[in-house]
Amino acid sequence: MKIIVLAAGKSTRFKSKKHKALHELHGKTILERILDTLWELKPTQIQMVLGHQLEQISQELKRGETVTEQKEQLGAGHALQIGLKGLTHDPDGFLVVYGDTPLFRSQTLAALIQSTKQHGASIGVLTAQAPNPFGYGRIIKEGEFVKSIIEEKDANAEQRQITEINAGAYYLRLTPEELDEGLANLKPQNSQKEYYLTDLVEWANQKGLKVVRHFCPDFDEVLGINTRAELAQAYQILSERRIKELQSEGVTFINPASTTMSPQTTIAADTVIYPNCYFAGQTSIGSDCQIGPNCYIESSMIGAGTTIRQSQVVKSSIGQGCWVGPFANLRPDTKLSDEVHIGDFVEIKNSKIAFRSKVPHLSYIGDAQIAEDVNIGAGTITANYNAISGEKSLTQIGREVKVGSNSVLVAPVQLADGCFVAAGTVVTEDVLSENSLVVGRFPQEVKQDWVTQKKKKLGKKK
Ligand code: UD1
Ligand code: CA
Repeated sequence: MKIIVLAAGKSTRFKSKKHKALHELHGKTILERILDTLWELKPTQIQMVLGHQLEQISQELKRGETVTEQKEQLGAGHALQIGLKGLTHDPDGFLVVYGDTPLFRSQTLAALIQSTKQHGASIGVLTAQAPNPFGYGRIIKEGEFVKSIIEEKDANAEQRQITEINAGAYYLRLTPEELDEGLANLKPQNSQKEYYLTDLVEWANQKGLKVVRHFCPDFDEVLGINTRAELAQAYQILSERRIKELQSEGVTFINPASTTMSPQTTIAADTVIYPNCYFAGQTSIGSDCQIGPNCYIESSMIGAGTTIRQSQVVKSSIGQGCWVGPFANLRPDTKLSDEVHIGDFVEIKNSKIAFRSKVPHLSYIGDAQIAEDVNIGAGTITANYNAISGEKSLTQIGREVKVGSNSVLVAPVQLADGCFVAAGTVVTEDVLSENSLVVGRFPQEVKQDWVTQKKKKLGKKK
């Protein structure tokens, strides 16, 4: 079985510099999502018809898809004619889909193929019931057969009332001669002056060829993305689909409607997701976690029993039994071992923090390696950036080190196991002997009665 994907159109209604097929939908492009689904059907070839932004789209084709160019966008029927030039005929038939319908399940397309074959039909058309059919081609049917498809812009008032629509997936089992004749018969005599692929249906009926409809009960699958509003709907549909699956696997969502969930997210049972969380990319979360409210989690791994409150976690890994937040910012390549505590207003990037260590308040930790059982006092900063050389350097902190509040660790710098850093110290040199105290501040000076004397001198009573 072979597949033709028609994606040469200008995507005018999307109003973007970038072709709509290259827009992101939960961490993958619309195109990538369609191709993921189509490759699941194990076709022997996927033939793309491209035109507008052909080069940019071709660069994203990584799995051996072949390309033919439709130089002028004269309609989907014309695009199919061009697509066929890249295929040798397959008597088994071939599937035609559009490049802007990324929500099909592969099982639905497989069922369309099977039902076309079972009916001995020459064409199978996937249809669905649309809550609002505006913009879709309407199905003129007779029982299980399709007589014709009328586009919105060509439909009369009565036809516009029809709510069964053309989903935009076809299985064609026409001979090369029939295809030539059918395509040659298409005429751009319609409101859009285009060669409509959908007109093949009426032609086939006139020839006495069977055109069967395969009904998809879930309209969400057939959503075509022509506008930004439809892109938003697609985000919502994929998110809701995944949340339902996760609920059935034992995950609690306190307010699922407020959560956005990428389809690539996995979450183990008995984890609770609080309101207003956004899960992007490919994230895996263990069991018995509490995430949210108000978290942004992207492409990260989170171990079992961890709590994350009101925080951002990007491309990071967090162990089991950790506490993060509220208001923590874990930037890429943060690696927390088990039972690590990261508190409020703490930013971490490209750093490893070992078992049971704590960064509880108001810190920046960048390019650091922190061993086990360390406590980093409030307001501690790793000064990892040299503004002259532009280099970033490493801070290494040994086991059981206690860093006092408001210290600055100027990298590259190392603190041996068991060292204490007095509050307010600026550590500029390595401390390599274990269990040392490092103090780097002026000794305290007390001038007794200084305030009274000063006021008297200025003639102030209070
Ligand atoms: C199309 C169908 C409509 C169906 C709907 C489902 C036609 C005439 N209409 O309408 O019945 O209900 O999809 O989503 O087919 N394309 C080309 N070359 C062209 C024109 C279009 O490759 O010259 C491609 C587009 O890039 C797009 C696809 O064909 O991926 C469909 O075109 P689009 O303009 O989106 O058709 P719709 O109006 O959505
Ligand atoms: Ca469309």
